[in-house]
Amino acid sequence: MKQHIKVGMLGIGNIGRGTYTALEMNHQQILETTGLDIEIVKILNRHPDKDRGIDLPKEKYTTDINDILDDPEIDIVVELMGGIEPATAYMASALEKGKSVVTANKAAIAANGKRLVELAQENHVLLRFEAAVAGGIPILTSLTTALLSNEFSEVHGILNGTTNYILSQMTEYGKDYAEMLRTAQEKGFAESDPTADVEGHDSANKLSILMSIIFGTEIPPEMIPTRGITTIAREDIDYGFESGYRIKLLASAKKSKKGIYTNVEPVLIPASHPLASVYNEFNAVFVKGNAVDSLMFYGRGAGSLPTGSAVLGDVIGIARKLAKGAAYDVVPQIRYDSGLRFIGEGISKYYVRMTVTDKPGVLGRITTTFGQFGVSVEAVKQNAPYESDGERIASLFFRIFEVERPLLYYVLNKLHKENIILSVDNIMRIED
Ligand SMILES: NC(=O)c1ccc[n+]([C@@H]2O[C@H](COP(=O)([O-])OP(=O)(O)OC[C@H]3O[C@@H](n4cnc5c(N)ncnc54)[C@H](OP(=O)(O)O)[C@@H]3O)[C@@H](O)[C@H]2O)c1
Repeated sequence: MKQHIKVGMLGIGNIGRGTYTALEMNHQQILETTGLDIEIVKILNRHPDKDRGIDLPKEKYTTDINDILDDPEIDIVVELMGGIEPATAYMASALEKGKSVVTANKAAIAANGKRLVELAQENHVLLRFEAAVAGGIPILTSLTTALLSNEFSEVHGILNGTTNYILSQMTEYGKDYAEMLRTAQEKGFAESDPTADVEGHDSANKLSILMSIIFGTEIPPEMIPTRGITTIAREDIDYGFESGYRIKLLASAKKSKKGIYTNVEPVLIPASHPLASVYNEFNAVFVKGNAVDSLMFYGRGAGSLPTGSAVLGDVIGIARKLAKGAAYDVVPQIRYDSGLRFIGEGISKYYVRMTVTDKPGVLGRITTTFGQFGVSVEAVKQNAPYESDGERIASLFFRIFEVERPLLYYVLNKLHKENIILSVDNIMRIED
């Protein structure tokens, strides 16, 4: 029985520090509850002289990846560098050398998860990546253990803390998008280049991983229709709030007999829905299983210690198996073989904001054109008109009953081409 488990860690940034600190803080407790003495023995580090803000013996540092990959004493490699390469190559090499791998790297798992899972299987070792989806929330472990008795029909996640923080502040305090993005960067939630967050790509990476776990599908992030929060204006937030909705960047997937409907986009959800009360940098994942019914997981989706907690949870899980003699999955934890394919975005209710010239008959022509194509209007509201270049201009806000998105886009485009409306300013799904 192996009780002393040695770990090699790649990277000592935000999450590396959180993982190291969480282990230091709780080493004794882990030892008492599991009987395992887990030790981070080597740390790959590009800049050994950089001050990391933690007390860490410098002799643990190495700048040579082979010091970790070729060390027979190291059983588990924890990858916390980020980026697709060289992270994927290092993980693949560790698996080939018979070491189990833990990572928080959603970009690498979304891009190369299938190959890495196969390598783990071939080499009879484990690959775990709880921290890659929703940081500290133990969603993947729950889905692959306690919830295994379910078939899931849908998943919706608020999977990005930066965008949820910005939207929450715009809704609750009337703050402005650009100001809140700056504050999120100052508080350390948002990257200095926030494109992956605000354009929804970070959420798409996590949704792609969630769909593999829940539906056994291989739907890469590039295939998921993805829209970010950059087009959301104060008028949209105010309309949603007054009509009993909250706007959230939702990563959603639903299963049907034909395949998977999925997308990442800002969505109006009723204020009474559990996801509507997820504020600021917090994340949540909502799933529907055929036995457990609706279930929501809530917590910190990022941050040094919360994410470090998820990384360590995976390390302890593997270490427990190693202590019994072997650590591998008979059937891989993540599957890509259900054959379910991406089939589109499905039918939904929609919110549409448009600008029109404020003159008699315009609203009638819009609703008549909608009617000609079977697009039904649930509600319409007009804001007080204002003068622009000598014309009276108004914003119209529509709630549209269930419709295929391409049909709605076609009709809106026709209204614009025929000069019935001046512009379509925003379109968002309404998730009732
Ligand atoms: N930040 C979060 O809240 C969060 C949450 C969930 C998951 N994650 C994931 O966790 C991973 C790490 O994120 P982070 O925020 O900790 O990143 P980070 O602060 O930028 O840290 C990255 C670390 O990796 C090192 N590194 C990068 N490329 C390297 C290379 N080629 N060779 C050797 N070392 C290299 C860096 O070294 P230097 O410092 O010397 O440059 C740094 O120590 C990412 O995959 C991220 O997506 C992060």
